Amino acid sequence: MHPTSLRKYRPFPPVPLPDRTWPDRVLDRAPEWCSVDLRDGNQALPQPMSVEEKLEFFELLCRIGFKQIEVGFPSAAETEFNFCRRLIEENRIPSDVTIQVLVQTREHLIRKTFEAINGAKRAIVHIYNSTSPLQRRVTFGDATREQIRDIAVDGARLVRNLVPTVPDTEVVLQYSPESFSDTELDFSLECCHAVMDVWQPAPEQKIILNLPATVEWATPNVHADQIEWMCRNLKNRESAIISLHTHNDRGTGVAATELGLLAGADRVEGTLFGNGERTGNLDIVTVALNLNSHGIATGLDFADLPGIRAVYERVTRLIVPERQPYAGELVFTAFSGSHQDAIKKGLDRRAMETAADPGVPWGVPYLTIDPQDIGRSYEAIIRINSQSGKGGVAYVLDREHGFDLPKTMHPQVGKRIYDLADALGRELSADEIRESFFREFVNLSSPLDVIDYELIHQSGERGRVQCLASVLNHGNEQRIEGFGNGPINAFVHALENAGMKDFKVTDYRSHAVRGGSDASAAAYVQVQHDDGRLLWGAGVDPSIEMAGLKALVTAWNLLRP
Ligand code: KIV
Ligand code: ZN
Repeated sequence: MHPTSLRKYRPFPPVPLPDRTWPDRVLDRAPEWCSVDLRDGNQALPQPMSVEEKLEFFELLCRIGFKQIEVGFPSAAETEFNFCRRLIEENRIPSDVTIQVLVQTREHLIRKTFEAINGAKRAIVHIYNSTSPLQRRVTFGDATREQIRDIAVDGARLVRNLVPTVPDTEVVLQYSPESFSDTELDFSLECCHAVMDVWQPAPEQKIILNLPATVEWATPNVHADQIEWMCRNLKNRESAIISLHTHNDRGTGVAATELGLLAGADRVEGTLFGNGERTGNLDIVTVALNLNSHGIATGLDFADLPGIRAVYERVTRLIVPERQPYAGELVFTAFSGSHQDAIKKGLDRRAMETAADPGVPWGVPYLTIDPQDIGRSYEAIIRINSQSGKGGVAYVLDREHGFDLPKTMHPQVGKRIYDLADALGRELSADEIRESFFREFVNLSSPLDVIDYELIHQSGERGRVQCLASVLNHGNEQRIEGFGNGPINAFVHALENAGMKDFKVTDYRSHAVRGGSDASAAAYVQVQHDDGRLLWGAGVDPSIEMAGLKALVTAWNLLRP
């Protein structure tokens, strides 16, 4: 930013809490979860969900395991009201799920809200009013603290008085001092205490106090200090469930929530994949899977994360970014060759270790969790782009196509294929890598081609072979003949006898190709030109001997670009 622009901004004041305890705590259990996808998430969509889409999303949330679901703002619009009624009247709410409805502390809206929940087995009525100095000044026209506190108290009284009008519904009460994150802590506390005085909670009948980072103005440690301060100073703390509701304006909604839990909160509101106003709400998937990755059960089931993402993307018409923790398309994909190599070694080693002890702790380089635990597969892990380094191509050829290239061949093949990826400006699929490998390195037949051959094993001389072959050299057919202590050696001598003497064979490997429908052999021959150049060629053929000859011819051809 330009220095003159910077003059507009001020540091966020720290919380005076020198004896804060949260930094030394460790998360050892999951909070209560409340999804606000159908309210905070929905109201932030360019095209809000239809009732049918909300129903599908509600069912998805139930399947994941949410026991508290904010279903909307029923007093705000007819469709919101109707959605809530459908859930109740069509018995769509599982008996262990509590719906939550949000409403401002305004009389006619609160009355309508109670109409909306009538008949539900259990419902959380969530009232809020905005409390920060900025909101008091700008939105409420310089309202005083007392006036703002009275708005909360009036709303709380009305709610208390309306509870008996829904006798079949167990009502749980929730209050949010909206804009808590930039409200003076003593004033947030004053509002919460005033509401508690009206609602008179008890340990066996708790209320929920939701302390939202409506806008994330500060670093996550400040949020944690605010939460610890509130937990410490709240009278009758044991009668309140302290709830977090972070947004993500500074990109640290997840961190703020995790530190807020360390600071004593009991409950978390958020959305799948962090949808919500501006930069979004807290991403519950990330926080829950972060807990899982430390061995903590959460009650939420993300075993089929791709399936959950697919429903989410369809009904919200949003896209989960490729780098989204856990859910993004690319998060279990390593492009860097050294990462690919380390992951491969880690997975191979883990396979060995778990065979001996299935309980061995997870430990694979670069993978914080086992992708399979959330429905992701290993196949996608290795992908190739121009940044992948040499090992990646060889790894794909080996793992996906059964070609075990000699180590010293990796740089030659890797470089050529990365150059292709670079020229295309995109990554290559495993099939494209195989095609490129074949096009550039396998069974090359120009200018030299081997048409047929015969090997005659010399009786009495162990390993001694005569090679009779027909080759095409620059289009001219030649019969060639040579002796050697193996097929390759004999063929080399045959070529030499025909005047092709400017090279020697320096290495040779062969193996049966794994997988693949046709039972083929692969051979790799390294040759050195008299000018010092060393090159590998490969041959693939049903006959292992022919594969070797083709590999040699390929290497010979590669010496003559
Ligand atoms: O972000 C917020 O403060 C809210 C409240 C209504 C809880 O969504
Ligand atoms: Zn919100």
